[in-house]
Amino acid sequence: MSLSDLRPGDSAVGALVVQTEHLASAITAGAPEAFSTPALVALVERTAAEWLKAHLAPGHMTVGTAMVVNHTAPTPRGMEVRAEVTITSIDDRRIEFEWVAHDEREKIGHGTHQRAVVEASRFAARLAEKSR
Ligand SMILES: CC(C)(COP(=O)(O)OP(=O)(O)OC[C@H]1O[C@@H](n2cnc3c(N)ncnc32)[C@H](O)[C@@H]1OP(=O)(O)O)[C@@H](O)C(=O)NCCC(=O)NCCS
Repeated sequence: MSLSDLRPGDSAVGALVVQTEHLASAITAGAPEAFSTPALVALVERTAAEWLKAHLAPGHMTVGTAMVVNHTAPTPRGMEVRAEVTITSIDDRRIEFEWVAHDEREKIGHGTHQRAVVEASRFAARLAEKSR
């Protein structure tokens, strides 16, 4: 498999069941016991990244470079959330997605996402240099 196997219009789905750690109240004291926006972002990123992983050459990975989030309805603990990511454009380095998320009742969010293919060792070297 390689990135060239992927086309605009191709899509993948990821899901989770909302747990305590996914709640807004786990991030900010006093926030509602509702599925948090960061947890929604993480689900979208995980869905896209795990899908692309299987299509990369050895030594490469993708990193998130852009995310637009519209979180439009609340979801309670215990409910499943499903995110669908669809490729809108792709080249050898940048992959653009549209995404939509639903809980068991309704659509809860939509947006766009971009990931960049990087060489894992070069990315790690840049990080290490910044840590010094
Ligand atoms: C993805 C990203 C590297 C692309 O940056 P860019 O502006 O196109 O890259 P540039 O060509 O200007 O290069 C800047 C630096 O990025 C790194 N870089 C560039 N291309 C790279 C590649 N293909 N693989 C690994 N690192 C790369 C290099 O360290 C480079 O510095 P150098 O030229 O001195 O080696 C950059 O946007 C980034 O690091 N974003 C942060 C992503 C992130 O941390 N996401 C969260 C974790 S997943």
